[in-house]
Amino acid sequence: CGNLEVASLFTEEQEALVVKSWNLMKKNAGEWGLKFFLKIFEIAPSAQKMFSFLRDSNVPLEQNAKLKPHAKSVFVMTCEAAVQLRKSGRVVIRDSTLTKIGAVHFKYGVVDEHFEVTKYALLETIKEAVGEMWSGEMKAAWGLAYDQLVAAIKTHMK
Ligand code: HEM
Repeated sequence: CGNLEVASLFTEEQEALVVKSWNLMKKNAGEWGLKFFLKIFEIAPSAQKMFSFLRDSNVPLEQNAKLKPHAKSVFVMTCEAAVQLRKSGRVVIRDSTLTKIGAVHFKYGVVDEHFEVTKYALLETIKEAVGEMWSGEMKAAWGLAYDQLVAAIKTHMK
């Protein structure tokens, strides 16, 4: 009976909404990734200090080549979480990967508020990117996948 409950957590339609919007955005993943992180730093300027490659750099934020890969990781891993949630009812990430990501975020001092601001900025960026395609259902699907992914990361933050 537990399985049935879990299976209904994430539907095929929700998975399709996430995959379809990411497919639209990924051609310009760098551009949207930059917008995504500029939104985060607009709301939480202090978050910039956590990134070693921003701290140790003299080039302007917009030109920092290392910012986009992190932004893309958040998009790609959230999209993969959506696929896994539909398939198996949970976020499946290789244990070694999750351990590494959990440890890195713990070490750099990422806390709940950062994950919350990032969720908000992620949804705003997707909204801007997909235009007319945006809907409450799309927002909910991305939000749910992100929340589940973050929950998985947090269990490894030590
Ligand atoms: C590093 C993913 C959210 C800050 C990383 C790395 C990955 C990643 C894959 C590289 C780990 C490595 O070194 O192997 C994610 C995912 C997130 C997320 C999937 C959400 C679902 C956040 C948030 C913050 C953050 C909310 C803070 C606002 C950092 C920092 C690093 C990092 C500071 C280390 C960067 C450095 O090397 O200086 N993240 N991240 N991440 N992440 Fe995230």
